[in-house]
Amino acid sequence: MSAFKEPVVIHRGLDNVYVEESKICYIDGEASRLFYRGYSIEDLAEHSTFEETAYLLIYGWLPTTSQLEDFKRQIEAHRPLEPEILQLIRSFPYHSDPMDALRTAVSALGLYDPQPMPNDMEARVDKGLSILAKIPTLITAFERLRNRKEPVSPKSGLSHAADFLYMLTGKEADSYDVHVMEVALILHAEHEMNASTFACTVTASTLADMYSIITSGIGTLRGPLHGGANEAALKTVMEVGNVANAESYVVEALAQKKRIMGFGHRVYKTWDPRYLILKKLGEELAVKKGQTKLFDTAVAIEMSTLKHLEGTTIFPNVDSYSGVVFHMLGIQTDLFTPIFAMSRVAGWTAHAIEYLYANRLIRPKALYIGKTGLPYLPMQLRTGRAEE
Ligand SMILES: CC(C)(COP(=O)(O)OP(=O)(O)OC[C@H]1O[C@@H](n2cnc3c(N)ncnc32)[C@H](O)[C@@H]1OP(=O)(O)O)[C@@H](O)C(=O)NCCC(=O)NCCS
Repeated sequence: MSAFKEPVVIHRGLDNVYVEESKICYIDGEASRLFYRGYSIEDLAEHSTFEETAYLLIYGWLPTTSQLEDFKRQIEAHRPLEPEILQLIRSFPYHSDPMDALRTAVSALGLYDPQPMPNDMEARVDKGLSILAKIPTLITAFERLRNRKEPVSPKSGLSHAADFLYMLTGKEADSYDVHVMEVALILHAEHEMNASTFACTVTASTLADMYSIITSGIGTLRGPLHGGANEAALKTVMEVGNVANAESYVVEALAQKKRIMGFGHRVYKTWDPRYLILKKLGEELAVKKGQTKLFDTAVAIEMSTLKHLEGTTIFPNVDSYSGVVFHMLGIQTDLFTPIFAMSRVAGWTAHAIEYLYANRLIRPKALYIGKTGLPYLPMQLRTGRAEE
């Protein structure tokens, strides 16, 4: 018998539950619109940079020239790793998933901060920025070490996107590849109260430090229903292999009630606007890199999925082309989710800080449907299973 007398509504999955008021991000899932701080994702993708977008998300306005220069200087100053952190990454097993390596490394950053729990908000923002700055260095250090190569230190004067590609390969990337990475980072930087942002908000609400907050986000982003979908979507495209196989793959997958990765969304009931931007970039990149077969296969899967799911609200999401794009940039598949984290840390920081300005400890409830008042049995009388 339930201990509760009142009827209780369970919001499993927290669908349509509002947990705060926010000025950071607006999604109109019916109209295919996404705004960061009031600016459309299309405008930001076309005109902004990742650094400027991160500033916008965290502080709330587009920076002036001097504000942006200061911000970039601050990020650049925080990019190098403490020798102890690098030593720790060297000790990670090479077979580890890069997301696990990133989660552990970000958590470890807090150990080397003499004051990880500042009282004032400005210092908290600075901690968030120092983590944002270091994530590309952490990802690339592990990536190189697991490939038996020495990590490459950050290079002064490069943008976040350019420096990431530089530290990954040891060579400065060409300007079109940097542009693609820049746009991908902008598109992934924020997305309202998704699972990982909520995890960060819950941790922030306990007044925990920024390292714990961002570590919570990384752990939550790791799952295939959230950050991991881009890897799964690319895997599908690779397995399908060519345009001719796409239709039969989709028909068979849907008949088996399998989900087509990169399609469907809890909020968008039409096109995800980020998908349109990435698909266009992907098309250009495919021609430039001579990888049209991969891109065309992704398009064929998209067309077949849309045909067979016509009349539903399942449309392509950001992950339908992000994996294909990252692959064409020469990036290992298991780095896609860490790259997502490298960008989303801007949104996580923005939400944690916004929530803290009007903090209330997040403590929902679970409806207890178990028993009460069971007698505590001595060992010899226990059945070894739950009481009926
Ligand atoms: C993202 C996702 C979890 C959102 O799901 P949701 O809003 O909770 O939708 P539901 O799980 O309630 O699904 C509703 C229906 O659509 C179907 N559906 C949802 N996504 C689907 C997909 N990608 N392919 C095929 N069918 C899908 C479900 O099977 C379900 O059908 P049913 O009512 O017959 O059981 C889901 O669309 C999904 O798993 N997509 C693939 C993973 C992915 O691309 N994730 C990245 C999100 S950015």
